[in-house]
Amino acid sequence: MLLIIGLFTHPHQAMNRFTKVFGNKKCNIIAMVHVDALPGTPGYKGNWSQIVKKAKIEASIYVKHKVDAILIENMHDVPYIPNRLLGPETVACLSRISNEIRQIVPSALPCGLQILACGNKQALAVAKACDLQFIRAEGFVFAHVADEGYTDACAGEILRYRKNIDAEHVLIFTDLKKKHSSHAITHDVTLLETAKAAEFFLTDGVVITGRSTGCAANMEDLDEVAGKISTPLIIGSGVTNTNLKQYYERAQGVIVGSSFKVNGFWANNLCEKSINKFMEEIEKLRK
Ligand SMILES: *[C@@H]1O[C@H](CO)[C@@H](O)[C@H](O)[C@H]1NC(C)=O
Repeated sequence: MLLIIGLFTHPHQAMNRFTKVFGNKKCNIIAMVHVDALPGTPGYKGNWSQIVKKAKIEASIYVKHKVDAILIENMHDVPYIPNRLLGPETVACLSRISNEIRQIVPSALPCGLQILACGNKQALAVAKACDLQFIRAEGFVFAHVADEGYTDACAGEILRYRKNIDAEHVLIFTDLKKKHSSHAITHDVTLLETAKAAEFFLTDGVVITGRSTGCAANMEDLDEVAGKISTPLIIGSGVTNTNLKQYYERAQGVIVGSSFKVNGFWANNLCEKSINKFMEEIEKLRK
């Protein structure tokens, strides 16, 4: 009997991997550092040192406000390009920033990276080199059409790559039917089926989002998936200090960007008052 249960138990134990890095808290607050437009992208303003400095200042503000994790992302690099076209300069710049942030942030605080668009292997390589604890990956299972183009599944490739570079300790959180994308080609696959497929393909956590950055995830989407998978569940957009409580019990983490910014707009500077208010809310819920 035990043997049979053993066969059906997930060998990867995503929840254990998650708690090893994040601990046992409910609803970890994962705060976004949206790095300014990097060299080589249309929005780059010409002062690279300033970009590094700003990213580090934002990370230290988050540390001061006791967030549970930091996620770095090249969000200002619009328009995004598919990963096969990502330049080495993007990877080099994000390595420098990741390394400098990792060094000023307490070692117990998990740090992660997402490289747009779909730079999942690149992010893993940076995570390995800079001792980051996790990445957020796009297009893990099935496929979708994103605003930058067709995004294929990558689970097989990136998990082999993670093994090859000896980075198995790096967690990979994966979007389900990602925002800013058309999912017509997988219309016959439900969100739960997508989550189960990601779990079967050894994800370390699935991310549910709304339609776009800043938009709240659908409660029906959460209802569909929460409690039906044994993998950590993360809410990836639109979490505010007022809707946080509806995710608190059921999500292992929430990724927060816009709500920490001036006027709640992702591209603005950090607003310490908003961060404070948000963190007060999570403290209240945790009591
Ligand atoms: C670039 O940014 C750095 C760091 O903020 C600053 O010290 C320097 O003066 C800036 N350089 C120019 C040319 O604006």
